[in-house]
Amino acid sequence: MKKVIVITGASSGIGEATAKRLAKAGNPVVLAARREQRLQAIVADIEAIGGQAAYLVTDVTQREEVQALADLAVEKFGRIDVWMNNAGLMPQSTFDQLKVAEWDRMVDVNIKGVLYGIAAALPVMRKQQSGQFINVSSVAGHVVHAGSGVYAGTKFAVRAISDGLRQEEAAAGSHIRVTVISPGAVATELTETITDAAAKKRIDALYDAVAIAPERIAEAVDYAIAAPEDTSVNEILIRPTKQVG
Ligand SMILES: NC(=O)c1ccc[n+]([C@@H]2O[C@H](COP(=O)([O-])OP(=O)(O)OC[C@H]3O[C@@H](n4cnc5c(N)ncnc54)[C@H](OP(=O)(O)O)[C@@H]3O)[C@@H](O)[C@H]2O)c1
Repeated sequence: MKKVIVITGASSGIGEATAKRLAKAGNPVVLAARREQRLQAIVADIEAIGGQAAYLVTDVTQREEVQALADLAVEKFGRIDVWMNNAGLMPQSTFDQLKVAEWDRMVDVNIKGVLYGIAAALPVMRKQQSGQFINVSSVAGHVVHAGSGVYAGTKFAVRAISDGLRQEEAAAGSHIRVTVISPGAVATELTETITDAAAKKRIDALYDAVAIAPERIAEAVDYAIAAPEDTSVNEILIRPTKQVG
């Protein structure tokens, strides 16, 4: 069955690869991010292969913009079957550098953006008595390293929020599924958000050595969505084979 799928952070990387894979399989997709030209180009690519796609320029830190995204999906395609909270950034640095504006930004996008996505889509899914959240955490949602404290904190939070939601929806019998995807190093634009030169050098070296393509994560999302409705794939931790930590 075709599903209406909303993806935040769809203008590059994992979001873009997932949107293209799922749209190619015939699912209508609704794409959100801030860079409009990127979104337009991805929609054009999808339409060129006969897929259905819409986009809305959305900053996930603005609750009303996230609500407008959900409204667009319902208006255009009639429902929301899958909501993928994927938008995120990873400006890693040590605490002593006091990059407090970056801490704020990570909390706002990586945590509050996910919460606003839940607030926008949950009422629609409750009404439908079906739906699925795909929340993107990270290996950093499972392990912490020096320099990754705040980023890891936001990604641990995504897992906590997701399991709380999962338990509530299971108890309510709403048929709403919750999936957390935790990637390791994936070759995307994510490291461009790192402003600390030493951290960027270290992380770029790791990514150059081991990172896998974002299409690998798209395959995992596809698997979680395709599982039978009575089965909820709750967690997928997916590292490059060569990644140690
Ligand atoms: N790459 C990895 O190694 C890796 C590993 C583990 C987890 N992850 C997670 O995977 C997710 C996707 O990242 P990626 O690796 O694909 O990196 P990416 O290529 O940098 O993609 C990040 C996406 O988030 C969007 N975004 C950032 N701030 C936003 C905001 N305020 N509102 C709306 N969209 C916003 C960006 O679009 P605009 O700039 O156009 O808004 C972009 O589409 C993130 O949550 C990241 O933490 C990535």
